[in-house]
Amino acid sequence: MAEEDLKSKIIKKGNLPRHIAIIMDGNGRWARKRGLPRIAGHRAGVKTVKRIVEAASGLKISILTLFTFSTENWQRPREEVSAIMNLLYQTTKRELSELEKNNVKLITTGNIEELSSTRKEILKKAIQRTKDNTGLVLNLALNYSGRSEILDAIRKISVDICSGVIKPEDLDEGLFSSYLYTKGLPDPDLLIRTSGEMRISNFMLWQTSYTELYVTPVLWPDFTDDDFYQAIWAYQNRQRRFGKI
Ligand code: FPP
Repeated sequence: MAEEDLKSKIIKKGNLPRHIAIIMDGNGRWARKRGLPRIAGHRAGVKTVKRIVEAASGLKISILTLFTFSTENWQRPREEVSAIMNLLYQTTKRELSELEKNNVKLITTGNIEELSSTRKEILKKAIQRTKDNTGLVLNLALNYSGRSEILDAIRKISVDICSGVIKPEDLDEGLFSSYLYTKGLPDPDLLIRTSGEMRISNFMLWQTSYTELYVTPVLWPDFTDDDFYQAIWAYQNRQRRFGKI
């Protein structure tokens, strides 16, 4: 089906996912297939990020979360870590005026305090400058680990219980969620993973309990608007039962 037809069909169908999360995978393999260094794959991946942010904005999706850097990614070779971080920093700097113009609100999920001070400052500036935007919320999961997020929440809850701010019996799913990094965000409706791996990889473990999963063999740098629309179309044609019949 032509891309425009699919886009119109998606819009006409109506039950768009409010929150889409993406595990962007396959940059390294994309580069290897071309005999290029891994960083060339990440560079190509940034172009896909730009395309998909525009596509999500065009569909009026409320929240797009991109798994940009996991805490496990620090274990990659130092040059690769630094190249990914520089790409992130340069892209944020370069695209800030586009984000502002397109009414995109940038937020992050994860521990950005551990990033170097220059990188942190540029991110914080972009977050600050876009905070009143009312269009797409672009949530970059950065230095993120789902298990650490849950442990951090438990630590904060323990402190609040010990100091009497909350009582153990107050703790329900809503209150627990409010201690997570994603406080205030609805859970993802759809999680897309590129490059064919059938894993969650420590991503939003609490928040994806009822999320629809969509795995495509397409490598992230090759992921097109049409692939994005296909994922949404698949989501729209599923029945979400949340454990009911
Ligand atoms: C996964 O591919 C990709 C990453 C760990 C990094 C993704 C980061 C970017 C695309 C740059 C971020 C920029 C912005 C602006 C959000 P992989 O290296 O794990 O690929 P492989 O599994 O084929 O080796």
